[in-house]
Amino acid sequence: MSDKTHKTGKDQTKPAAEILGPGAVSMVLNVNGVSQSIDVEPRTTLAEALRTSLNLTGTKVACNHGACSACTVWLDDLPVAACSVLAIEVTSQKITTIEGLSETDHLHPVQKAFIEHDAVQCGFCTPGIVMSCAALLAHNPHPDAAEIEVAISGHLCRCGTYPHVIQAMLSLANKQEGNHE
Ligand code: FES
Ligand code: FES
Repeated sequence: MSDKTHKTGKDQTKPAAEILGPGAVSMVLNVNGVSQSIDVEPRTTLAEALRTSLNLTGTKVACNHGACSACTVWLDDLPVAACSVLAIEVTSQKITTIEGLSETDHLHPVQKAFIEHDAVQCGFCTPGIVMSCAALLAHNPHPDAAEIEVAISGHLCRCGTYPHVIQAMLSLANKQEGNHE
């Protein structure tokens, strides 16, 4: 054992890990293409930070423990439950919320299809389901019903809109260029 580790058992040459919190710390989140500074406690979830610090209330929180997917956003283009990650964990990732999915005055095709196919009732689950459906289409432009079911399988909709969501998504899959089934 070297002298550097003799007394403590630790390698004294390594810098000590920085301790953050429990009070608020400053961090930068890249949300919808814009870097934004916030001051929140390290225990703050991404969902809470989006809603309370950035006023992006389109991300809904229902269960707040990863069971319903109402809070789904994209991290680097993949859907995740924003209540199940800490804001401080995702400072190096690209975050997309429902507010960033569409351009000003232009709804995303998934949003249009949901309206056309009556896939919205109370709407509380809808932003999360839209984010998962849009992610599916981005990676698979021609999903079949089984693939759509898998994509929305983690989402709880107490209003029971699932058949309409699947119809909306199938209409988009069939509209994609080159798909004439
Ligand atoms: S609110 Fe995040 S999974 Fe339910
Ligand atoms: S539309 Fe009401 S919970 Fe899904």
